[in-house]
Amino acid sequence: MSDAPIAIFDSGVGGLTVAAAIAKRLPNERLVYLGDTARLPYGTKSADTVTRYAVQATRALMRFEPKMVVIACNTASAVALPVLTAAYAPLPVVGVVEPGARAAVDASRGGAIAVIATEGTVKGGAYVRAIHALKPTATVVQRACPLFVSLAEEGWTEGQVADLTAERYLTDLFAAEDAPDTLVLGCTHFPVLRGPITKAAGGTVRLVDSAATTAKEVDRILETSGTKRTASPAPPKFLATDAPERFARVGSRFFGAEIAPDQVELTDIAP
Ligand code: DGL
Repeated sequence: MSDAPIAIFDSGVGGLTVAAAIAKRLPNERLVYLGDTARLPYGTKSADTVTRYAVQATRALMRFEPKMVVIACNTASAVALPVLTAAYAPLPVVGVVEPGARAAVDASRGGAIAVIATEGTVKGGAYVRAIHALKPTATVVQRACPLFVSLAEEGWTEGQVADLTAERYLTDLFAAEDAPDTLVLGCTHFPVLRGPITKAAGGTVRLVDSAATTAKEVDRILETSGTKRTASPAPPKFLATDAPERFARVGSRFFGAEIAPDQVELTDIAP
């Protein structure tokens, strides 16, 4: 069991930020990452559609006989985690919303927390529920920032366009005296826009994302179940449902390491 891989999926390349955090914390683990690039974005689609896609992605990953599934997509975690957990029990299924909420609660001094995410994540309110479950007195404001996804994919993570977009989305949220002291980057794509987001939110706001806390949760589950891999590190395997070359090129930025096009297998996961 300990030699089995950890299966990770996202709507595209954004979840590679989570995969990178897992690889960093658990370098001996084998990772299989699926990006559903053919059907990205998930963030603008209905909960039913995203759940259907998430079920198909997880089913496709079962051929690798994983020891755990990580939903590295905030939108899919927000809507599909209960369905996947029930469908694959006792296989652990980990989402990124609860770890992100935990990071926010730990970081916030006064309990005023802002969450920025896709439309789908904001609409479902999963972050608000997860934060309140951990700290009932917290005040949580949410805002959908869909353009950040395109900016990140395009590689426009700094400069005028990124700064103006961040200002437009965020300035009013942080202008008030009782403004949030913590900002959750509740979307896989947002960590690469930390610079402009920090400028727009103001220097004192603490930015948190789910990547490191999700990796910590994965570590905890493996430790508890005694299924950590100790054999020497194996290279990650990547699957994409469309355009492997683009996955490798854009994905390298999110993964923080070069992904070669021939490392990415084109796969069809629709039924
Ligand atoms: N992976 C999505 C998320 O974290 C962002 C991209 C998309 O909309 O599919 O919510």
